[in-house]
Amino acid sequence: MRDDQRKKVLITGASGLLGRAILKEFEVDGSWECVGLAFTRAKGNLRKVDLKDVGAVRALVSEFRPTVIIHSAAERRPDVVEQQLEASRQLNVVVSQNLASIAKEFNCFLLYISTNGVFDGKSPPYKPSDVPNPSNSYCIFKFEGEKATLQTLPKSSGVLRVPYLYGQVENLAECSCTALFQAVLNNTKSKSVTDYGMRYPTLVDDIAIVIRQICEKALSENDFRGIWHWSGSEALTKYQMTKIMAEVFNLDFSHIKPASEPPTGAKRSNNSQLDCSDLMKLNFGRHTPFRVGIQECLRNFVNVS
Ligand SMILES: NC(=O)c1ccc[n+]([C@@H]2O[C@H](COP(=O)([O-])OP(=O)(O)OC[C@H]3O[C@@H](n4cnc5c(N)ncnc54)[C@H](OP(=O)(O)O)[C@@H]3O)[C@@H](O)[C@H]2O)c1
Repeated sequence: MRDDQRKKVLITGASGLLGRAILKEFEVDGSWECVGLAFTRAKGNLRKVDLKDVGAVRALVSEFRPTVIIHSAAERRPDVVEQQLEASRQLNVVVSQNLASIAKEFNCFLLYISTNGVFDGKSPPYKPSDVPNPSNSYCIFKFEGEKATLQTLPKSSGVLRVPYLYGQVENLAECSCTALFQAVLNNTKSKSVTDYGMRYPTLVDDIAIVIRQICEKALSENDFRGIWHWSGSEALTKYQMTKIMAEVFNLDFSHIKPASEPPTGAKRSNNSQLDCSDLMKLNFGRHTPFRVGIQECLRNFVNVS
């Protein structure tokens, strides 16, 4: 393939958990020219840009001329959002609005990554057409980011909502799922882990496949637009996930007890299961079993003889 025939993708948040997997998926066969953006963790080929600097982002888009922009960057920790409301609104809402305006100016398809937290958890599973009712500031801002994207670029954007993510991490604390493994490893201390609230842990590599499939279909079909859902298929509490982590490495679990009280901190819904049948009907995606995916992600953090 000649260079000028290659599709071009710009990925925000490419140093993050999901963004790293997206970049890897688009780089896999050379058919896409990729630029990944990062901020505090910019290294290697990642370009450093503060997304709040709208002039710098516009200049970058003007220089690279992407066909697709995937907006994965966000402040995604609900408790941090509650503590830093204005800074988080700037990143999760204002940056998304600005990016949509830039994508419109340069005629790009924009895919905005959102969360199942836009739903209140009262009547799962949720279809893409169901009406959101977010219950904490993070989810309110993510929903505002969705609306800004779709309203600014109705003919050339989409939203992909995903639930609780896990993947290859730089350290266990990087993601809330792999952080649970710290309690398993630290077996000199008894620990309670919440057994309340269904999560649908989803491997970021599986989501990256779906994202690439969405972008390729959106480029070839002008009416493939709108809101989509993708989710892992297993309903697990954090306690159940922790138990599986111990089982796959034959580690002691007797020091971990289930806690049935809702966790403290920002309000989270109890079960915001996403209905992903629209994408499944298209044969999109992959569902890696949690047991298989998590073993691969944690392998480097355990000494198993
Ligand atoms: N994690 C989950 O369980 C989950 C669940 C549902 C939906 N989501 C959504 O999925 C997306 C990806 O989440 P994630 O877990 O991959 O997030 P993450 O690991 O926390 O990564 C966040 C990314 O945003 C970048 N970023 C933050 N502030 C920036 C700024 N001012 N300028 C430029 N880049 C900036 C970070 O860059 P540096 O690190 O280089 O500074 C990083 O690459 C988000 O939109 C999130 O809302 C996540």
